[in-house]
Amino acid sequence: MPIDLEALSTCTRCDLSLTRQRVVIGSGPQKPTLLVVGEAPGRSEDEGGEPFIGRSGQLLFRLIVEEVGITRAECFVTNVVKCRPPNNRTPTRHELDTCHPWFRAQLDDVQPRVVLALGNTAARSIFGYERGIGQTHGVVTQLESGPGLATYHPAAALRGGAPVLELMRADLRIVKSLLESP
Ligand code: URA
Ligand code: SF4
Repeated sequence: MPIDLEALSTCTRCDLSLTRQRVVIGSGPQKPTLLVVGEAPGRSEDEGGEPFIGRSGQLLFRLIVEEVGITRAECFVTNVVKCRPPNNRTPTRHELDTCHPWFRAQLDDVQPRVVLALGNTAARSIFGYERGIGQTHGVVTQLESGPGLATYHPAAALRGGAPVLELMRADLRIVKSLLESP
C-alpha cells in the first residue's frame, strides 16, 4: 500500500516536530536494488529536505559505487527517524519507537532487494540487535522484505579514517554478493 506522504510530511507524533524545519521522508525508485537507511537528518538534510546530502552522503555513495557498482539513483535512501534531533543528538527510544511505523510502511511499500542500515541506531532499530555495530556489522539478517545487513555510519568513517573505511568496504562487498546470488 502506498504510504500517506501528506500525513508523513506534516507528522507531529513526537516532539522532534517542534524543532525540525522539514520532515525528511527519503526518496528513490520503487523496488530499488538497495534501501539505504541512516539514523536521522542532520543540518544539511533538515534544510535541503533529502537524506544524506552532506559530507557523509558523498562518502557513502562513493563507496557504494566503488564496491557494489550501483549509483544513488538505484537506491531508496531514508532514515529510521524522519526529523532532525536538536544538535544532531541521538534519537531517544521514544522518538525511535514513535517514528518506526513510518519506516515499516516504507519498507512494505518500496520492496527493496537488500536493506543496508548505517550505524548503531539504524541497525538496532531495524534488526533489533542488542550488541553494538562493532559486532553486528556485516551479519546478514532476514527481514520480511528479504535480506539485510548493517555497516558503520559514514560519519564514523569520516572520523575513524582508513580502518573504518576498510570495514565498510568489506560489508559492501557482502551487499554485492547478495545482489549477485539468485
Ligand atoms: N546522517 C544520517 O544518519 N542521515 C542523514 O540523512 C544524514 C546524515
Ligand atoms: Fe513524526 Fe517521525 Fe518526525 Fe517524530 S520524527 S514528528 S514520529 S516523522
